[in-house]
Amino acid sequence: MPIYLDHAATTPLRREALEAMLPYLTEHFGNASSLHSTGRRARAGLDEAHETVARALGATPREIVITSGGTEANNLAIKGAAWAGKARGHRIITSSVEHHAIGHTVRYLEKFGFEIVELPVDRYGRVDPDEVEAAITPKTILVSIMLANNEVGTIQPIAEIAERVRRYKGVLLHTDAVQAAPYLSIDLAVLDVDLLTIAAHKFEGPKGVGALFVRHGTNILAQQQGGSQERYRRAGTENVAGAVGMARALELAAAEKAETAPRLRRLREALTSVIGGADGVVETGHPTDRLPGLASFVVPGLDGSAVAMSLDLADIACSTGSACVSGSTDPSHVLLAMGFPAEEARGALRFSLGRTTTDAEIARAAELVLATLAHQREAAAAFAAQRVAALARPAAVAAAVAPDAAGVEASAG
Ligand SMILES: Cc1ncc(COP(=O)(O)O)c(C=O)c1O
Repeated sequence: MPIYLDHAATTPLRREALEAMLPYLTEHFGNASSLHSTGRRARAGLDEAHETVARALGATPREIVITSGGTEANNLAIKGAAWAGKARGHRIITSSVEHHAIGHTVRYLEKFGFEIVELPVDRYGRVDPDEVEAAITPKTILVSIMLANNEVGTIQPIAEIAERVRRYKGVLLHTDAVQAAPYLSIDLAVLDVDLLTIAAHKFEGPKGVGALFVRHGTNILAQQQGGSQERYRRAGTENVAGAVGMARALELAAAEKAETAPRLRRLREALTSVIGGADGVVETGHPTDRLPGLASFVVPGLDGSAVAMSLDLADIACSTGSACVSGSTDPSHVLLAMGFPAEEARGALRFSLGRTTTDAEIARAAELVLATLAHQREAAAAFAAQRVAALARPAAVAAAVAPDAAGVEASAG
């Protein structure tokens, strides 16, 4: 089995969630909108899932809209708030380090006349709450800033941002809590946001299911039309088994957080102390306000994808950054926004630990990462030397030819 250090991309489905789902994939297969007992059984499971998710987040069941994942929940939040607020204004404030499920959604809205303000971040990837406030104008309808970053793990000062946004009536605040939900405590009775996104597959729930919290009284427009499911906010036959699996995984993650987070922090620090100590390696993200289990680096001079592929051969699963852009040769927009030059940003590496990561795995991974980095450096140096030699060759050839030519010329003269 590979050592899996890519939990920010996705996590395995935990057994308890699978067990909770199985009856809804088998005997309780009904459509939750059907009136007969098979449908009512599915409805009961779905209602219970709303209650459990709401309880885990400090919300009420009616405030939870179950979606097909984080991307859909983010789209519903952003487009739903934008279209509902269009009569009042057209300005949307976000940050330059959001996941593409936000970044590409706001860019899409730009085509319809919305004005998008992408706030800069500091070198740790943090947004300044003062800058959020300064960007708010009477035309602002929405602010969307993520709770924790998926590439570098930096936690945003959402409570301070919320406090500023609240000074301006009619401006909604959304936060993408997809990466934060498994590890940070989220209490929506205290955290003053209007909209919040989670995705089940980041906390050992099933893929293809997530939720959007919509605070009571918040007006958003549904983004798909059809049936009356999810209180008219998300049409379509519900994924009852998915919802049940997400609820079970979330309630367990919430109950275990106090134990999981410090353990992951300790393991991440162990890994970081070894990798971060290697020649030229720079740790990225905030030094303290960061996700407990996410370690991120840049290794200037190396190609992050080549290192990740080489680690895969050594049975370590990690990534260069966001799974959604892995495979692309473009440097990460997050690292560029944090001020890394494109060349350095290409050397990005991310190791994201999960609840099931062990001490032994981290010790082994640290050893293999060091060896791989050393090997990659040697390969890069050999390649660079070859290039220098190849570039020098025509000059050498020219130099070898030149005396003869000169000689010919001289004799001709
Ligand atoms: C911060 C963040 N937002 C949104 C998403 C998208 O969620 P999903 O994969 O459930 O669509 C991800 C997934 O990586 C993420 O990390």
